[in-house]
Amino acid sequence: MAKKIVTDLDVANKVVLERADFNVPIADGKITNDNRIVAALPTIQWLIDHDAKVVLFSHLGKVKTEEDKAKLSLRPVAKRLSELLKKDVTFVPETRGALLEKTIKDLKPGEVVLVENTRFEDLDGKKESKNDPELGKYWASLGDLFVNDAFGTAHRSHASNVGIASNLESAAGFLMEKEIKFLGSAVDHPKRPFIAILGGAKVSDKINVIESLLKKADKVIIGGGMAYTFLKAQGKETGNSLLEADKVPLAKQLLETAGDKIVLPTDVVIADHFANDAEAKIVSVDDIPADWEGLDCGPASIEEFKKVLEGAKTVVWNGPMGVFEFPNFAKGTIGVCQAIAELPDATTIIGGGDSAAAAIQLGFEDKFSHISTGGGASLEYLEGKALPGIESISDK
Ligand code: 3PG
Repeated sequence: MAKKIVTDLDVANKVVLERADFNVPIADGKITNDNRIVAALPTIQWLIDHDAKVVLFSHLGKVKTEEDKAKLSLRPVAKRLSELLKKDVTFVPETRGALLEKTIKDLKPGEVVLVENTRFEDLDGKKESKNDPELGKYWASLGDLFVNDAFGTAHRSHASNVGIASNLESAAGFLMEKEIKFLGSAVDHPKRPFIAILGGAKVSDKINVIESLLKKADKVIIGGGMAYTFLKAQGKETGNSLLEADKVPLAKQLLETAGDKIVLPTDVVIADHFANDAEAKIVSVDDIPADWEGLDCGPASIEEFKKVLEGAKTVVWNGPMGVFEFPNFAKGTIGVCQAIAELPDATTIIGGGDSAAAAIQLGFEDKFSHISTGGGASLEYLEGKALPGIESISDK
């Protein structure tokens, strides 16, 4: 069922509550990566331009103790948002109460308010994270309409997304719409050949997405730490490389059923211990010594992956190919990033998380059709799961 989009709403002079995902990394009060804030701007700007009174909600981190509150305040986000929008953003340092209610009542069209971290409510019986019905109702009572632009939180059923949406007419924002368009069309009707590239440390984190993409993609390239569980399933020595021994039988079964659909590294960069300055060498996957560990894909693997990618029309990438945080073991991830970025005629999608961070950090941000702002949300979406944050938006 098609969902309402923000442009379907008549927002002029209305108090529009918007759920954004401003869960951004903050160190010593400074935002170290503002991608999610930048990605949220088009919807906020549209609401401003259409004379809405804008009230923004977001979570930040996980609030477990009173002490967490100091480091998990959204105040730095209000400051950054104000810089990016080039207008004042009023920060309300509470999630409920007289100040919040008065600030919203006094709002004029085009003005913007950011409410404190919704998970401060978790200190009182996990009201936000357990979608307490009274909390969703209270927040909804503060506005006339609801816009959900928090794709990154769409896999959660919380009071500030599902709870508010259950009590107000709601619509998806432009970011949510874009995420659904790119990830949804890759999953549901990809242009072929469709190649999926999956990496990251653990098979167990990605098992559902591997199984789902094996049904949909023409080839699934598996790299990163989880490749070693598959190499082990092929009977190879993997030394001290990451290994999920209990997942070897499953990897074996996947290799048997998927046949040559699964593409594994043919060579790896091994290290004598887990450090950037460890002694390193490139070896075939058949020659990993028992006391060394694989930390990256090798050059022959990258060439092989490039061949598989030739002519691709849709590419989805999730998870780094090696320990890219160590510059000496980042070549595999850079190589894959470059190979995808150079494809002449493909829709290229990074499914969030570490691979999105890697692509942006490596300067490839503009080379992809879409870099998802979701981590867990994009994985669950690629698995084909219905996401509560999306489901709860009003139908057209
Ligand atoms: C994310 O960073 O993946 C989202 O903001 C959701 O955060 P959460 O895992 O703390 O719910």
